[in-house]
Amino acid sequence: MLDHEQVLIRRGPRSGLPMILAVHSTALGPAAGGLRLWNYPDWRDGLADALRLSAAMTLKFAVAGLDSGGGKTVVALPQGARPDPARRRDLLYDVADMIDSLGGVYAAGPDVGTGPADMAVIGEVTAHVFCRPESLGGSGDSSPHTARGTVAALRAVTRRLYGDGDLKGRRMAVIGLGHVGEHLCRLLAAEGADLTVTDIDPAKTRIAAELGAAWRSPEEIISAEVDVLVPAALGGVLTTGVVRDLRCRAVVGPANNQLDTDEAGELLRERGVIWVPDYVVSAGGVINAITTELYDFDAGQALARVNAIERTVADLLEAAEALGVTPARAAQETARRRIRAAMASRG
Ligand code: PHE
Repeated sequence: MLDHEQVLIRRGPRSGLPMILAVHSTALGPAAGGLRLWNYPDWRDGLADALRLSAAMTLKFAVAGLDSGGGKTVVALPQGARPDPARRRDLLYDVADMIDSLGGVYAAGPDVGTGPADMAVIGEVTAHVFCRPESLGGSGDSSPHTARGTVAALRAVTRRLYGDGDLKGRRMAVIGLGHVGEHLCRLLAAEGADLTVTDIDPAKTRIAAELGAAWRSPEEIISAEVDVLVPAALGGVLTTGVVRDLRCRAVVGPANNQLDTDEAGELLRERGVIWVPDYVVSAGGVINAITTELYDFDAGQALARVNAIERTVADLLEAAEALGVTPARAAQETARRRIRAAMASRG
């Protein structure tokens, strides 16, 4: 069954690249979601990613209490290809035309492979874009806010596990030192957390050294004996095999689509490992962008709203326990309830 409202698939007329714009739901409001520029074996894999990621955005907004719907755009680069800097504008204009053709049903933001400078180029063509640089009136880089929100989520989980939310001395293993991962590690280091980190890029050992964090290979870090494993890289990390190897109390991170299969989610529960859905943990970026750009919040109000993820996660963990379900199921229920209510009130 197709549960998306609409999906545009287009070969960019300027770039020749396959692009997929998926609008999952506008039940709560116009859709928003990042523009992902990434490599895929086949453009259909990019389509599958766009479908999954846009559906997760619907849940993300619903649980975060924002009146936006879920969407996502994927530009599928062939395996091994790097985007040609000289032709980046072509690709962005192609995407911008596609966004603009929807007349406000969907607005883009940054995601894996794109940033505020790209949003500025898209903004030359269409108004439906978030996170342009602050110099152009946008809310800028969303990663520091996503990192902040992740810290809030980690506090809630730490409180749940140990009775207080102090991160000092807590052992955290962070997978991925990209935009969000690096910010996150800096915040955690400032809180005095005991950090272990990894990245597929060995050059990032420099960041580990600077922060006094232990370095493990991506394979080793999975079975690190820590309080919380924090996935902050690409999706699909939690396969059943990986879940079997975990030696942590909880998995809580901002990476999108962490669960490889539903079975992996079940296995987490069986093993007694708390898993908070990625779309709850990673909402800080959109919360900041949407509240400042659409609701006119100032920086302080937006930060308070990002920090409120701590409460959201605490409530979820509590509801999950009360109902005897996983936090994932509790989050889905919260989202479903909000969406149903919105649809009912519209008639
Ligand atoms: N990458 C962001 C996310 O997945 C996308 C985004 C940021 C969308 C800001 C809109 C505004 O949440």
